[in-house]
Amino acid sequence: MKIDGKHFRSLWWNYDDAVLEIIDQRWLPHDLRIQQVKTMQDFADAIYEMRVRGAPLIGATAAYGVALAMANDPSDGNLDDAWTFLEKTRPTAINLRWALDRCRNILKPMDEHDRAAAALQLAHDISDEDVEINRKIGENGLALIRDIAARKPEGEPVRLLTHCNAGWIATVDWGTATSPMYHAHDAGLPIHVWVDETRPRNQGALTSWELGSHGIPHTYITDNAGGHLMQHGQVDMVITGTDRTTRRGDVCNKIGTYLKALAARDNGVPFYVALPSPTIDWTVDDGVAEIPIEERDARETTHIMGKLEDGSIGTVQVTPDGTPGGNPAFDVTPNHLVTGLITERGVCAATPEGLGGLFPEFVQAAE
Ligand code: MRU
Repeated sequence: MKIDGKHFRSLWWNYDDAVLEIIDQRWLPHDLRIQQVKTMQDFADAIYEMRVRGAPLIGATAAYGVALAMANDPSDGNLDDAWTFLEKTRPTAINLRWALDRCRNILKPMDEHDRAAAALQLAHDISDEDVEINRKIGENGLALIRDIAARKPEGEPVRLLTHCNAGWIATVDWGTATSPMYHAHDAGLPIHVWVDETRPRNQGALTSWELGSHGIPHTYITDNAGGHLMQHGQVDMVITGTDRTTRRGDVCNKIGTYLKALAARDNGVPFYVALPSPTIDWTVDDGVAEIPIEERDARETTHIMGKLEDGSIGTVQVTPDGTPGGNPAFDVTPNHLVTGLITERGVCAATPEGLGGLFPEFVQAAE
């Protein structure tokens, strides 16, 4: 998507310097800082510190990490070490392990001399595939938004609500939850987006920045406002992303998603999840019982970073000195609260049959 009229992906290969470049998202939306990722430690820090974030993007980044490892030392041992080193950076989003598994499964049978070039090509492929998957999610989500628009008075906007940032910078391009929004806006359908702030890291500010750059009307709201807006008929549809969806359709996403799903159900608002197939964990059924939830540094809850009145970027403490903080980063929305899953192959029910019908080959492979 575009920043100040110039097309960007959230990461790209710098062919001149033979190095990966990323947008360091810690500084967004206030400052656009580009970083070269040069060492394995740089890769681990970029993922753990959320310089890159969002399930699909951390998967693509990890694939470039494997490419660097193979350029340094293409041995079997180093391939396994790179897998382990990168996999432990963030435990919840399955795309990280998906990308690492895919790289290792393809590279292991190869001659060592071929691995460095093949690993780099694989990272490019994973990135390009992500863009295409998200584009198709946008087309499939657009059809749902069109249906809602058709039932409203002409010209009245479809009011969407989203949580966290499942936008283009959380993927390689387009985003997942935002892709239907970009497609709808580009097709001339009037939409308005309620953007949850998403404490503690305020990913909603990133979503606002994205939507604003694309000219999409939106309003940034506190995390607690969504239920109230739904009770008052101000939300036509919720669309969120996902970090891991189980084979029966339980959805693990940014903390607070579950509460939005409960409010949506209580108010008869459709709750959709944009789901690229690499985010499905075919080995897991019960998301609440089985998905590991990342517990992040409590400082993310007690301190907050932003633009200060003098224009500089700074951090302030919001709690009394020494206040203990708790910071579970994700929660699980059980499948019965999910109206539908918007995938690259179409929209399906959040059930084993729904997902299995769209992706039969993965079901068979997991059996
Ligand atoms: O902790 P984050 O910012 O990486 O969490 C991101 C989310 O929860 C997104 O909704 C999810 O990864 C989908 S991104 C297309």
